[in-house]
Amino acid sequence: MRIDLLTLFPRMVEGFFSESILGRAVTSRLLEIHVHDIRQWSQDKHRRVDDTPFGGGAGMLMAPQPLFDAIETVRTPHSKTIYLCPDGEPLTNPLAKELSEEKHLILLSGHYEGIDQRVRDQLVDREVSIGDYVLTNGTLAAAVLIDCLARQIPGVLGEENSLTGDSFTNNFLAFPQYTRPADFRGLPVPPVLLSGDHAAIAKWRREQQIEKTRQRRPDLFSKNNQS
Ligand code: ADE
Repeated sequence: MRIDLLTLFPRMVEGFFSESILGRAVTSRLLEIHVHDIRQWSQDKHRRVDDTPFGGGAGMLMAPQPLFDAIETVRTPHSKTIYLCPDGEPLTNPLAKELSEEKHLILLSGHYEGIDQRVRDQLVDREVSIGDYVLTNGTLAAAVLIDCLARQIPGVLGEENSLTGDSFTNNFLAFPQYTRPADFRGLPVPPVLLSGDHAAIAKWRREQQIEKTRQRRPDLFSKNNQS
């Protein structure tokens, strides 16, 4: 899979893509990531990419020309273009899975008060938000999306990091986990985990998931009870 990230701040994420599991996915060619500075497509003599909104209002907008040129340069007949913005559809594991099956994604991260609507109407296939809060720009949001979809690509996670125990699998949050020592500063591990009784462990973990989900995420909890 290939991802082209269009941003005004390439240096915000360059280190991110070379670390840890994502870095390994890139080196083993399961994932190809190209980060582009949108300013290279500006035709303005000061390399400006923003302008004031028609109709007035605070802030600046990213102008259409650099974005049209950028997307038209990197896209192919198989590309899907995604704009990261707070008013997009919420990012979830199922959405990340769906996007991980694409051959080529173009991720566009906005800045200022957003981008000219004509870019969204003409060139963007999908708009994605990483949560109900507003970041100063969409670059970190794009990095989050890439991280989340990369772990859905077969081979990216090793056996030791499988997807099955994740939070949100079957609409439950993850159960608590412990490692050695069994007693740390007088804080013991729940005895059932040391019992070797696999059925009892599975039951305890299930109960923990249910209780944690009920307390923290009543919205997820009620989905489970409906199905
Ligand atoms: N850009 C600014 N805030 C964002 C958010 N919450 N999700 C995606 N892109 C954004």
